[in-house]
Formats: sequence, C-alpha cells, structure tokens
Amino acid sequence: MRKIGVLIDCDPGIDDALAILFALASDKLNVEAITTVYGNVSVRQSTDNLINILEISGLRPLPEIGIGSARPLVKKRLEKREVHGKDGLGDTSLGRPRKTIEIKDGVELAVSKILSKRIEYIIATGPLTNIAEIIKTNPKIPDLVKRIYIMGGALFIKGNITPYAEFNIYNDPEAAKLVFDSKIPKTVVSLDVTQRVILERSDLTGFKKDKERLSRFIYDIANFAICYHRGFRGVKGAYLNDPLCVGAALEGKICEYKKGSLGIKLNGPQRGRTIVGEETGGAQDITYAESVNVDRFKRLFLGSLKKICKEVAS
Ligand code: BDR
Ligand code: CA
Repeated sequence: MRKIGVLIDCDPGIDDALAILFALASDKLNVEAITTVYGNVSVRQSTDNLINILEISGLRPLPEIGIGSARPLVKKRLEKREVHGKDGLGDTSLGRPRKTIEIKDGVELAVSKILSKRIEYIIATGPLTNIAEIIKTNPKIPDLVKRIYIMGGALFIKGNITPYAEFNIYNDPEAAKLVFDSKIPKTVVSLDVTQRVILERSDLTGFKKDKERLSRFIYDIANFAICYHRGFRGVKGAYLNDPLCVGAALEGKICEYKKGSLGIKLNGPQRGRTIVGEETGGAQDITYAESVNVDRFKRLFLGSLKKICKEVAS
C-alpha cells in the first residue's frame, strides 16, 4: 500500500505524544518529519520531549525533526500551564534526551520536504505559528500540500483557555487566521468533537503489564492526564484532542464533516475565538468535524498503540 507522506507539527504535550505514536504506528502514513512549536511547554522542552518520545518508541527509521517557533507571530507567549505536568509529559521527568539526534531548523525542514513533494498532509496539533511561517516562506507551498488537519477551535461550545477560545488557536490567533485564509485545503478538528473522545482508566488495561518501556510510558502519561482531568475538570477521563486529529487524517469515517466559512476573532475579550458562518468574513469552504464515531476511533487508536508496543517488545 502506498503510504501518505505526513508532516506533524506539535507541542508535546501528553496528547501530542499519543498522537505522534498513533501516527508512527500507522501503516497508512509515512511520517516524514516532525516539527516542534512552543505551546504546552517552551519550544526547547517540546523538542526534548519529542526526542524522548521517539527514543522510547524504539521505532526505526525515525522521522527527521526540526525545532520551530519559540513565540507567537505578534503577541507574547502565554504563561505556561501545567495541564500536561511541569515537563509536558505528565511529570515522567525524562530529562534531557540521552541519544543525540540531528535537530534541524523546523521551518526550513518543513519547506524543503514540501517543495520536494514528500508531504501530502500536515497534521497540526499545536499553535499554528510554524505553519504560518512555512506558508509565508514560499508562495508555492499552499498548492503543494493536499490537506492540513488542524486540532483547534471551539466552534459551538465553550473554549478551554477562555470562555470563547481553544488553547491552540488562542496562543496565536494571527497565525491561525493566516493559515485559515491560505489556499491549503483544511479540516478542523475542534473541541466540539475531541471532547467527546475520553480515555478512561479501563482503556489502559493491557498497557504497563509487560514492563516494556513504551507501554509503561504510554500508561504513565495517559494516567497523569486521566487524573488531571478527573481532579480539575470533573471529566471521567482525558480528552484525546490531538490523537483524534491524527484519526481524522487516517480514516474518513471516524468523523462526519460539514463545510463552512470560519472566522477568527483577533481583538477584545473574544480574541482567539473561532466562529462559523458567512457573516464572520472568515475563510470559505473549511471542512470541520461535527460528529465522531467514538467507538470506532478508540478501537483504532488503542489497537494501534498496542500493536507498536508489541512490535518493539518482540
Ligand atoms: C490542545 O491544547 C493542548 O493542551 C493539547 O495538546 C491540544 O493540542 C487542546 O486545546
Ligand atoms: Ca497539542
């Protein structure tokens, strides 16, 4: 089967880590490169986290990696929050990566991969600053990318960082607007659907048991997220925001979609809000997920993670 070349742009982050492993496990995707951005943690920390995740995955060959933006296009970076633990990976305290791996410039790496036609999809699971920089770099880029899958926005529900805005879009609304207004075909996977897929403690049966490093790592970070969500948000488990974005890229039937125009508020108390409708003056023809087949997604997601755990253990 021909694999689809993919660039993942992320800010790991627990759900980013799970999304990366999910994508690497897939036999439909060829993860050509992964770039990092500030967001859940600083860009330095998210790059360290990425290298640790790749090292723990035990998978070979590894995608090329690049470090991206340290701050948004216009405004200051948000103060860090601790949803994902102090280190961004559920306080697993992995420290500086042990193995050295070449870290390229994120934007240059992405641009060269796209220009050499190795990337069909971009999967963006962090603030959209890098993607905006990539688009600004070369006018050919929007014609060369088949689709960008964006985890971001709260369309018809409350935000998770302000009452109006979702975290990734709120971090850099100017970048998000530039990406939304670009010619790249877009699929938006917002909180409206991601908050319906909840990872519960019972889903973790089968991980950690075999004392294998990857399966223990998955258990530990997922367990941290489940405890955090239960304690602070009163949810029965952890939202699988970023993995659902990968799921949408992998399988057309995981979500159902609508098309519409999508605007982003840049000013005032609603800054970072994503709004649907003609009157928003927003970008036309954006595909957004409006429902999700939760069982189908969770089967695919958990099955894929178990599969790579087995592969690396054997
Ligand atoms: C998004 O914010 C981050 O904390 C998660 O990694 C996800 O990408 C959800 O709003
Ligand atoms: Ca993320």
